[in-house]
Amino acid sequence: MLNIALPKGRLGDSVYSMLDQAGFDCPAYNDINRELVIENKKKGLRYLLVKPGDVQVYVEHHAADVGIVGKDILLETEPDVYELLDLGIGKCRMCVAAPRGFADDRSSTLRVATKYVNVAKHYYSERNRDMEIIYLRGSIELGPITGLSDVIVDIVETGNTLKANDLVVIDAFKDISARFIANKSSFKFQNRIISEMVTKLGDQLEEGK
Ligand code: PRP
Repeated sequence: MLNIALPKGRLGDSVYSMLDQAGFDCPAYNDINRELVIENKKKGLRYLLVKPGDVQVYVEHHAADVGIVGKDILLETEPDVYELLDLGIGKCRMCVAAPRGFADDRSSTLRVATKYVNVAKHYYSERNRDMEIIYLRGSIELGPITGLSDVIVDIVETGNTLKANDLVVIDAFKDISARFIANKSSFKFQNRIISEMVTKLGDQLEEGK
C-alpha cells in the first residue's frame, strides 16, 4: 500500500479531482461519515485526510509515503522530504499587507502578526528590520485593524479578505502553490509507483496548459 496524505479544506477538492483524473481514483472527502482513511485496495492506495498544515509531518515521519501540501507550509516548516512536483493548483502569494496609507517608521520596532513565524522572521532579517512577531492562528487581518500589529505576513489568494478589511499589499514576495512531496526512504523503496504518480500528475499539468 502507498500511503498518501492529502489536505482537507480549501485545497482539498482540486487535489482530489487532479488525482482522480490522473488515474489514482480518489474519492472526494466524505463529510457525512467523516472517514479519515480511504483505501483503494485494487490500486494499492491508502488516502489519509489530514489538516493542510500536517501533511508534511506525516510524510517526514513516514506515516505517509507521499503527500500534497502548500509551498507556504513547506517554507514555514522546512521538512526533510523531497519536493517532487509543482501541481500548479492552490495558487496564491505570500505577502506583507498593511492598512491603506501605512508608512514604515524604521525608528520603532515593527509589530508583525502572522501564522508564518519563520517566513516572516526570514523576510525581515534579510532586510535588517527590527521587528516583533505576534503569532496568530487565523483571521490575521484583524491584527492591524485592532492595533495588535502594524502589518501582517500572510497568503493572499483573491485579495477579497484584504479588501474587505481595508488592507493593501505592501510586498508580494513569494509565489505559492501546492507541491507533491515524498518521504526520502519511500522515494527509494517505492520509487516505481511514486515516479508513476509524478509522471501522471505532470501529464495532467501539460494537458491543462
Ligand atoms: C487565508 C489567509 C487569508 C485568506 C486569503 O485564510 O490567511 O486570510 O485565506 O484569501 P483571499 O485572498 O482569497 O481572501 P483562511 O481562509 O485559510 O482562514 P484563516 O483566517 O482561518 O487562516
